[in-house]
Formats: sequence, C-alpha cells, structure tokens
Amino acid sequence: MKTAIYPGSFDPITNGHIDILERALSLFDAVIITVANNSTKNPLFTEEERVALLRQATRKFKNVEVDVFHGLLVDYVRKRGAIAIVRGLRAVTDFEYELQMALMNRKLNEKVETIFLMPNEKYTYLSSNFVREISRLGGNVDAFVPPSVRKALKAKLK
Ligand code: PNS
Repeated sequence: MKTAIYPGSFDPITNGHIDILERALSLFDAVIITVANNSTKNPLFTEEERVALLRQATRKFKNVEVDVFHGLLVDYVRKRGAIAIVRGLRAVTDFEYELQMALMNRKLNEKVETIFLMPNEKYTYLSSNFVREISRLGGNVDAFVPPSVRKALKAKLK
C-alpha cells in the first residue's frame, strides 16, 4: 500500500488543489490530505473549518483521508507510514520555496521523497490567497473553488 501525504494550508481548498489531489490518486494507493500549520501565515479559516471544507470537497474520492497535524511534516509522514509528500508546482515562482522545503525535509529525514505535480494549465494562476482577496472585495470565485467553499467564504466575509 503506497500512501502519499498532501500537506498544505488549504485556506481554503481550491479547484487547483483538487486537480493535484486527483493526479496524486492516479499514482498512489491512498492520499492523506492534511491541514498543516505554516508559521508564516495568518489563516482566514480556522483549522477545524479548513478540515471540514476539505472533507466536503473530497468526499467523492475513494482512498482519500482528511487529517490535520501539528509539528514537523517529516515526523507526520513517518508516523502515517507514507512514502512521499505531494506538492503542487504552478510556476517557476513556486519552485524556489518548494525546492528549499523539499531539500530541508530530506535533510530531516532522507527516506521521505517529495513529488511535485503540475496542475492543469487553467489553474496555474490560481491561489488561495487570490481567492480570499477576490472574495473579500466582492468578486466572483465560482470558477475557482467548490460550492461549499464559495458558501463558506460568503459567510465568513459578510
Ligand atoms: O500551503 P502551504 O502554506 O504552502 O504549506 C506549507 C506547509 C504547511 C506544508 C509547510 O509550512 C509545513 O510543512 N509545515 C509543517 C512544519 C514543518 O515541517 N516545517 C518544516 C518545513 S521544511
């Protein structure tokens, strides 16, 4: 059983994240999509809200578990018996940060591989950050997020 961990802030989950999840599912037997704490970010949605939104958005998939963790990602990967970390790469601008994180994680545990997956081109400009900003400014995010997220954004920002 080959399991991958797909970690992120998911604040909130977007259609781009779901695209990456589907690609990961075609490579691994199971994927654990997990909300993690990024110490450099101040999230709009609480951890519980982000987990609930992930559950809603991924319930149609088999072999997906939604979880949350605190602490080091490599420790969580080992604890869950996973063999890889999955991260999405949209553009060159993502690369520097992602490479640094992947190499640091490898330094912390050399057995943990990071796999980068590219989303469909239509999602290369999409980010949770833009989704939050567009929503905050009254724009329409229907094309970018699942319906449950659209509703949650409306309720949060009203
Ligand atoms: O969606 P994000 O914010 O880019 O995800 C980054 C995240 C949460 C995966 C990263 O910050 C992380 O792994 N945090 C857990 C703590 C950790 O292991 N830090 C060391 C990273 S080298």
